Amino acid sequence: MRKAHLLVTALLAAVLAYPPASRAQHETGADLFSGEQVFQSLCANCHGRDGALVPNVDLGHGVFRQPYSDAQLVAVILKGIPNTPMPANPTMSEAQAQLVVDYLRSRAVDNSSALAGDATKGRSLFEDRGNCQSCHMVAGTGSPLGGELTRIGDSRTVAELTQSLRTPNAVVQPNLRWYAVTTKAGATVSGRLMNRDAFSVQLLDGSSGKLRSFNMADLSAHSFAASPMPALGSDWSDQDVADLVAYLASLRAPAKQGATP
Ligand code: HEC
Ligand code: HEC
Repeated sequence: MRKAHLLVTALLAAVLAYPPASRAQHETGADLFSGEQVFQSLCANCHGRDGALVPNVDLGHGVFRQPYSDAQLVAVILKGIPNTPMPANPTMSEAQAQLVVDYLRSRAVDNSSALAGDATKGRSLFEDRGNCQSCHMVAGTGSPLGGELTRIGDSRTVAELTQSLRTPNAVVQPNLRWYAVTTKAGATVSGRLMNRDAFSVQLLDGSSGKLRSFNMADLSAHSFAASPMPALGSDWSDQDVADLVAYLASLRAPAKQGATP
């Protein structure tokens, strides 16, 4: 962390060497670009270049764990979150933090005009024919194996959702990767990778759904594995997929305060 901190401080100094921009009535492309620059130099280190690396936070899609006003987000950026790795940025101005907030807000997914499907039909495809709850949780029902989808409409575009259904392995979120181990005793287990270090690996076992831990010393093989998410093939019409996607896109957090109109 210490090293990361020094790096952050150095990067901050570099970014702040540019003349500070003042808060404009309406942000211009140039303002957003510099908000993006600040993000990529100071935040991407921990949050990831696309902003989704910190669990339950997806800054790259304007998704936060709670509805924040702009002023609250500025405060988070300037003061950090005490007792967590989220650092304060004492040398950043409020105007600069606001530029970052404008940039994050501009990334919020708006699927409202792109929906061709019927979300009600999609919901029954999800619960019945697709058997999606055997691997996914929505609002407390289902399995955590493939990841929670309760707010997936906030963070994925229609195009991304469609791709997830037709070609699941094309893009896999870093926290949803699948991993396979073979023990020296000959047992093979695969599941969602929860944690891995030099000595051990923890999986959410794909067959039992239970958390299991293995010592590296007891394994004869271990590696990433293909996602078990079944691709929807030609027996699923484009309309079926559009309905399913419409349902997924409708799974959103309650309306946020302070969102840009
Ligand atoms: C050293 C790593 C690190 C850096 C650098 C960092 N963050 Fe964070 N950030 C975190 C962590 C970890 C959390 C979650 C903290 C917690 O558990 O409450 C977080 C939380 C947040 C949150 C709250 C999200 C929510 O939904 O509650 C926001 C907003 C945020 N960061 C924005 C930024 C921005 C913007 C920058 C760059 C100016 C930045 N962060 C730099 C690690 C970092
Ligand atoms: C056998 C378990 C399994 C079943 C059944 C399954 N999924 Fe998945 N799903 C996964 C796994 C594992 C991932 C994460 C890896 C990946 O993206 O391929 C995933 C990823 C996803 C994602 C992307 C999540 C993200 O954060 O981007 C969506 C959307 C999704 N599934 C929807 C569905 C729908 C809809 C169905 C039913 C038609 C379904 N899944 C059935 C295991 C499953």
